Amino acid sequence: MRVLGLSAGNPDGSAELVLRVALQAAEAEDAEVALVRLHDLELPTRPVGPGHPAGGDDGPWLWDQLMESDGLIVATPIYSRTIAGTLKLVADRLAGPAADIAFAENYRRMLEAGETPPVAFPYDERVFRPRVAGFIAVGGALSSQWKSLALPLMHQMTFSAHIAVADQLLVGGAGMPRSVVLDARALVAAARVGRSVAGQLGRAFEDVEYRGEPGLCPLCHLSVVTVSGQALECATCGAGGRLVVEEGAARVRFDDPDGLKRSVATLDEKRAHFAEVQETAATQGPLAEEIARRAAAYAAFDRRIAPQAGRRAIA
Ligand SMILES: Cc1cc2nc3c(=O)[nH]c(=O)nc-3n(C[C@H](O)[C@H](O)[C@H](O)COP(=O)(O)O)c2cc1C
Repeated sequence: MRVLGLSAGNPDGSAELVLRVALQAAEAEDAEVALVRLHDLELPTRPVGPGHPAGGDDGPWLWDQLMESDGLIVATPIYSRTIAGTLKLVADRLAGPAADIAFAENYRRMLEAGETPPVAFPYDERVFRPRVAGFIAVGGALSSQWKSLALPLMHQMTFSAHIAVADQLLVGGAGMPRSVVLDARALVAAARVGRSVAGQLGRAFEDVEYRGEPGLCPLCHLSVVTVSGQALECATCGAGGRLVVEEGAARVRFDDPDGLKRSVATLDEKRAHFAEVQETAATQGPLAEEIARRAAAYAAFDRRIAPQAGRRAIA
């Protein structure tokens, strides 16, 4: 069983150090571990290919590393209240339809039936392998408002492929380079993340036990919500809940099973989303000529600028 560690921080910086602590703990649980430093990779914002940038692209290699792993531990520094841009880029390259388990199961069914899927996306059997994940975000700030959007964004790494999040950790106060090593509690908690992942490798999604801080949402265990009247939505995973007043105090409740099914962490919602994508394609596909005609009206308005090197790369 193999655990892949992704370091989105500075080489040897605080985020990478806590990742090493987590991977050491995972190795002590008999997992094979590997650390990928995102700074070592060449990752263009779009895949290399016709009409896309020239040069190297380690995206397919990274995809294979993830597909050949049973566990994933991601560590990022917190920049401007959220994750490092390199990690967002990785999520944009690796997550989404190509990794989506509902897309994959429908593709498999259509291919087995000899049908042609109406919308073509890359399909990889390996997304069905059960995987367990852990997240660690490290910030310099002590106060919560400087860290609030870090863990929610990290879930983009896992929900498409239905990877179960077993643990997540938010560390603050690492203001100076590498200073997380001064924080004994953070190091102990990082080792816990490693064990939470390594100790549950191979388990089916439903059987993975969550071992991090509880949080308000029962599905993603985070507490960032949007409120509309009395209706609530978990900003991380989309679970629906409600705001109630009990004994004069506002409380958050996620007690409606239909509300929980709206979470993108559930197979129900992923399947509903797949159906919606197919319906949208069925409606808009026959309008291809009309789309091209209307879009052409804006073609003459070209005020684009790019450096010379950029122009050559995308020519
Ligand atoms: C551009 C930038 C933005 C940052 N924004 C935040 C922030 O919003 N909240 C926070 O807690 N720390 C913030 N930090 C501090 C980093 O999270 C912290 O320095 C880092 O985790 C330490 O890692 P290192 O050892 O790799 O330098 C920021 C640092 C940089 C460079």
